[in-house]
Amino acid sequence: MLNEQKILGALGTALPLTCLDVTDSTNLRLKEMCRSGDRQVQLLCADSQTAGRGRLGRSFLSPENTGIYMSLLLPLPEDDLPLTVRAAAAVCRAVEEVTGQRLLIKWVNDLFLDGKKVCGILAEGVENMAVLGIGLNVRMPERGFPDVPIAGALNTHADRETLIGRIAFHVLASLPEQKNSILTLYRERMLLTGKNITFNHSGQEKNARVLGVDDMGGLMVQTDAGTEILRTGEVSIGSGQVACLE
Ligand code: BTN
Repeated sequence: MLNEQKILGALGTALPLTCLDVTDSTNLRLKEMCRSGDRQVQLLCADSQTAGRGRLGRSFLSPENTGIYMSLLLPLPEDDLPLTVRAAAAVCRAVEEVTGQRLLIKWVNDLFLDGKKVCGILAEGVENMAVLGIGLNVRMPERGFPDVPIAGALNTHADRETLIGRIAFHVLASLPEQKNSILTLYRERMLLTGKNITFNHSGQEKNARVLGVDDMGGLMVQTDAGTEILRTGEVSIGSGQVACLE
């Protein structure tokens, strides 16, 4: 079970907080709360999820005691920098502050440590607000992550409550922040810059070289046909998994 007081202590500011032992999905819970009229900015976390949701319709394995499963109900961003880009930067800042570990970002917003994905981010709209969900593997579960060879964990002794509090702090602090400082951090930690990648657009597989991200968080790539900017979806390096752009 998560200790609420510890989370609030690490956050350092008053924020409505709900901690659940187990739930289907913290994103689903917050969306439901928002739809039923509870529209205050707030944080909801769970010790485990039975139906953790990932991007592109995937699931997010969420075993007890080892990971962070947190969602924030937030106003929609005021500028054109996606909330997920701000969130990726916020998680990097919090993890470095608490554990000293430097995470890298695989566009769009998967966070990697030592070649393994340790964090995923899923933003969903509800009633003109945003639910920002963050899943962070803090320690490896006893049985590992079967069927997800890319998944890893921070493997830190830092407690989950401190990490949750600091992540929430950095997300909230990033909302009014000028996008330039966030983009600087994002670009410094980009895993893909300079790499050859494959992506699939409208059923057609394309090869490209990554040039960087533009000021709206889009992935700038060089293809045979010229420069393209990818706004959403997923890319793969080498022969890895390829997903369609939405
Ligand atoms: C991804 O890697 O595709 C995104 C994963 C996002 C997982 C988090 S865990 C907390 C929140 N609740 C969910 O059901 N999903 C997000």
